[in-house]
Amino acid sequence: VNGKIEIPVVVNVLYRTSAENISNAQIQSQIDVLNKDFNAQNSDFNSVPALFAGVKANVGITFVLDQVIRKSTTKTSWGTADAMKKTSKGGLAPTSPTTKLNLWACTIGGGILGYAQFPGGASATDGVVIDSKYFGLSGAANAPYNLGRTGTHEVGHWMNLRHIWGDATCGSDLVSDTPTHNEPNYGVPAYPHYSTCSGTPVEMTMNYMDYTDDNAMYMFSNGQKSRMAAIFVSGGARFSFGQ
Ligand code: ARG
Ligand code: ZN
Ligand code: CA
Repeated sequence: VNGKIEIPVVVNVLYRTSAENISNAQIQSQIDVLNKDFNAQNSDFNSVPALFAGVKANVGITFVLDQVIRKSTTKTSWGTADAMKKTSKGGLAPTSPTTKLNLWACTIGGGILGYAQFPGGASATDGVVIDSKYFGLSGAANAPYNLGRTGTHEVGHWMNLRHIWGDATCGSDLVSDTPTHNEPNYGVPAYPHYSTCSGTPVEMTMNYMDYTDDNAMYMFSNGQKSRMAAIFVSGGARFSFGQ
């Protein structure tokens, strides 16, 4: 990524209650968080421990709010099977998904904060779903997930990042500069937290691709940046966004 990638964002709001009909200010606050977190402008970026100072990344991708689409619904929760993306299920189909990042703000249910589609999937379901209770800052966003980092984490997945623990005990996230984690970390871990995996590295619990609270995650690594950049070059799954 050379600082020229600018991603238009379409926000699809599905609401039954007024709290679910999140304000334009709350929507813009999520865009602002993405721009900070992906450009090393988050206020907590300097909290990254010295151990990781050499690998903390300025990803250099910009997000621009393109449009907000709202739809009233009688559904109380949408689940994780993409119903919110389908007109036939009462949802909203994505707008220009090969050139615009679509976000859905709705109640997912089941304690799920958000979910994303990885690069290479069907364009009809491409994008990121963020529960309206955790979308952006303040407004209806609920602590400890009220700093917009669900959006940052999910957009990380949308750009091909895996969970830092590799979804297995001492698993791999396919990124070499992130330490091997035992398992997901939650809450606000004390530093240093040592892995018991091979080499017993200090875990990078402050990485956006862990499962900690919003105020405990504040960096991507350079290896993650390379993995994200690779999808936007010629032959990459999201090359159409890099034009
Ligand atoms: N559980 C969700 C996922 O696996 C998101 C976790 C986001 N964490 C946060 N602190 N907001 O994609
Ligand atoms: Zn995740
Ligand atoms: Ca790794």
